[in-house]
This record gives sequence, structure tokens and C-alpha cells, in this order.
Amino acid sequence: MANMQDKKDTAGQAVRLPRHIAIIMDGNGRWATKRGLPRTAGHKAGAETFRRIATYCKDIGVKYLTVYAFSTENWKRSTEEVGAIMGLLKRYLLEAVDSMERDHIRLRFFGDMTPIAPELRALAHATDEISDHLPEGYFQANVCLNYGGRDEILRGVRQFAADCAAGKRRPEELDEAMFSGYLDSRGIPDPELIIRPSGELRLSNFLLWQCAYSEFYFTDVLWPDFDAAELDRAIAAYQARDRRFGGVKK
Ligand code: IPE
Ligand code: IPE
Ligand code: MG
Repeated sequence: MANMQDKKDTAGQAVRLPRHIAIIMDGNGRWATKRGLPRTAGHKAGAETFRRIATYCKDIGVKYLTVYAFSTENWKRSTEEVGAIMGLLKRYLLEAVDSMERDHIRLRFFGDMTPIAPELRALAHATDEISDHLPEGYFQANVCLNYGGRDEILRGVRQFAADCAAGKRRPEELDEAMFSGYLDSRGIPDPELIIRPSGELRLSNFLLWQCAYSEFYFTDVLWPDFDAAELDRAIAAYQARDRRFGGVKK
């Protein structure tokens, strides 16, 4: 979309592009089933959509894209399906190691990586190290893997409690900004816009702390069919919202 950042609203105020967009990449299974394909084919198509949408976000000037790839609850699925998802992630990371420097993409992971297979964890570590050496101003994709909003909060609380026990922190100094620093998203602004495709109207444990004042956009489109035009619609919907943050519009 051309000149999205330059758009003006009726009062002549610049309508801002979200700096941070978060997406629950849902509907892969239904997309495949509708076509008589195995669910894993839906995940493959969904991975392609992720590549396209990440590139598009980077091109239009979004700074952060956070995607929900695998939740703490998704282990309930068959070993075949879980294995296929992990295989696709591995393939993406292998590609990323070679291309992120050239494509100016930083890559981070949100979630508890401890139960993730060592090979995949090593690749995530490699992309993390490359990201450390890339300029902060580059576009950044955050992939939520074995991520749950409640789990993220619990891990943060545990670390804060440990820091208190070690004498590094005092309970009474904890405020929202300090607590944000204990989360996987530390240093990253909260998402202005959260998108969920596939017609489901819930968060499914996504970014529970960070979503306090996010705008939500729901669409029936299934994730593998999600395209740039749909993202433009979501951004346009966001730009038409009146964000008051509890105040009163003057
Ligand atoms: C999202 O698609 C991908 C993951 C949760 C890993 P789904 O696999 O949940 O697709 P549906 O919701 O069954 O259609
Ligand atoms: C949320 O989708 C998790 C991801 C997209 C990775 P789910 O398909 O797991 O969520 P529910 O089960 O419909 O709530
Ligand atoms: Mg689903």
C-alpha cells in the first residue's frame, strides 16, 4: 500500500501505521481439510503466507511483526502434526540463517524453548546471534514458539522472585515498566494491532499482558489465504479506530 504513513484523517491529523502488528496464524487445518488435504499441507501453506506477510510488513514500514506459531497447548495434537510444524520451522530457520542479513530482518523467539528439540533450539540460537549483530532499526519478526501468555507471565514472575531472593530487586520497586522487562517481549512496544484470521473470536493465550490496549481485527479468511490486501484492510480498520486509553477525546 502506497503512502500509508502519509494518510490524514478528516481532522488532518497523520494516521499512523502500527509499529507493531501481532497475528494469530490460525485456520491452516481447516484450509487443508476443505481441499481434501492432510492438515500438514495447511501448515505448509501457512508457512508460505508467513513469509509473504513478513516481507510485506517490512516493505510498508512496520517495525515489529509478532506471530503465534505454536502455543503451549498445541502439544495436545498428534505427534505427526507437531512434527510437521517443527519441521517447517526448522526449514524456515535454515533459510533465515542465510538470508536475514541480506534481507535486513531480525528474528526473535517468544516462548519457553526448553522442551524444543535441540537441533531447532540451536538454529533459534543461531538466528538470535545474527540478530544481535544486525542494526536495531531493522524490521524484526518475533516467532512465538511453545508460547503461552500465562506461561510467559509465570516465567517472568519466577525470575523476579529469584532476583528478589538474590537481593537484586525489592518487591516494592516492581511497576509495570519493570515487569515488562521480565517478559519475552522486553524492549518491544506493545502491539497496536492484533489480527486473528479463521473466524475465531478469542485470544487463545496470546500476548495476555501486552494486549491491554491493542486494537483487535478479526476476519473469516483462513491464514493460508491471508494476503497483503487483507492486511491493508486490517490496518485501515485500525486507523479508523478511536483510541482513548481510558481518557476522553478532546
Ligand atoms: C494454526 O492453524 C496453526 C497452529 C495452531 C499450529 P490450526 O492448525 O489451528 O488450524 P485450524 O484452526 O485447525 O483450522
Ligand atoms: C492458536 O490457535 C495458536 C496458534 C495459532 C499457534 P489454536 O488453533 O491453537 O487455538 P484454539 O484451539 O482454536 O483456541
Ligand atoms: Mg486453530
